[in-house]
Amino acid sequence: MKYTFAVIPGDGIGPEVTNQAKKALDAVAEVYDHIFLYKEAQMGACAIDKTGVPLPEETIRTCKEADAILFGAVGDPRFDNDPSAKIRPEQGLMELRQELELFCNIRPIKAYQKLLKNSPLKKDIIAGTDIAIFRELTGGIYFGRKELSKDKKVAYDACQYSVDEITRITHLAFKEAQNRNKKVTLIDKANVLETSRLWRKTVTEIAKEYKDVALDFMFIDNAAMQIVMNPTQFDVILTENLFGDIISDVATVIGGSIGMLASSSIGEKYALFEPIHGTYSQAKGKEIANPLASILSAAMMLEYLGLEEEADAIQRAVDKSLDLGITTQDLKAKNQTAALTSKIGDFIADYIQNQEDSNMNFKNIHMGQSTII
Ligand code: IPM
Ligand code: MN
Repeated sequence: MKYTFAVIPGDGIGPEVTNQAKKALDAVAEVYDHIFLYKEAQMGACAIDKTGVPLPEETIRTCKEADAILFGAVGDPRFDNDPSAKIRPEQGLMELRQELELFCNIRPIKAYQKLLKNSPLKKDIIAGTDIAIFRELTGGIYFGRKELSKDKKVAYDACQYSVDEITRITHLAFKEAQNRNKKVTLIDKANVLETSRLWRKTVTEIAKEYKDVALDFMFIDNAAMQIVMNPTQFDVILTENLFGDIISDVATVIGGSIGMLASSSIGEKYALFEPIHGTYSQAKGKEIANPLASILSAAMMLEYLGLEEEADAIQRAVDKSLDLGITTQDLKAKNQTAALTSKIGDFIADYIQNQEDSNMNFKNIHMGQSTII
């Protein structure tokens, strides 16, 4: 089959990790006889530098014409410490989410057996963790009315949700739970916020349609503690935009490295796939960033397109790289040498294509450079 992917490398380490995901996709295309075409598009600080805006019209068009979108990261320290900046790289991502109505952000959090030792949390606490975070992505305080008073002494960000916005993601979360451990935890602040009370009411109503799925509730402050104290209690987490942003970053410590975590952002018509790590600007161009989150995002993209076997092939290659200790510095064991970002991509592509003799090939590629294996 022929597929066209919009590729938005973005800023920081975005381009280098996205390149590794493309290597994995190319290997899949070859083995499974597909044609994957890539249309590159600009977003973020690089787009501001080139065009003056963080999300050029052409990028939106490229995304709408594609079968799916593979995205790296946006952001730049030049803008972070300038509160008066009117144009920011992140606005590109916000606008794209809104323009494509990518209302459902799914972030799988898994404790890989091999990586239990990499988490600062105790092994026996995190072992077996398998959570799917469903974060609402196009509403709430991110997109509510924003205002700065005339005298610039008071600022507002309104948090707004409609029943419709809550309903559409809730159905997706419950459907996912039906294929998993049949539990949904709604995370909110219903003791304080009106929007949270609307979430509880709406979700409770919808839950009646999914009798095989258990629903429980947790306040966000408690959830932030529970997710590091007892993460295996969660199956599907359903939550609004800002709480989802925060809780998913907290949950990354379970995975051993934020460099492992992929995500999908889904709407009725379009879907975007991205690592959740962001730009990691200090590492830009140094070839030290972990590309696995981007590679796993590519796997999620294939799964979304119904290419399950192909997605599995990527997942198996990732598992193998962890088994062999072919990892970037964030995951390496004390007695191992870290592999470069591009070498991880080479290994993953190589393993997808050659499986068994891949170790040999990898050794050859690295002859004289590394003692990893
Ligand atoms: C994320 C990011 C974004 C967000 C930023 C870059 C605007 O942190 O995707 O989680 O807050 O949604
Ligand atoms: Mn975030």
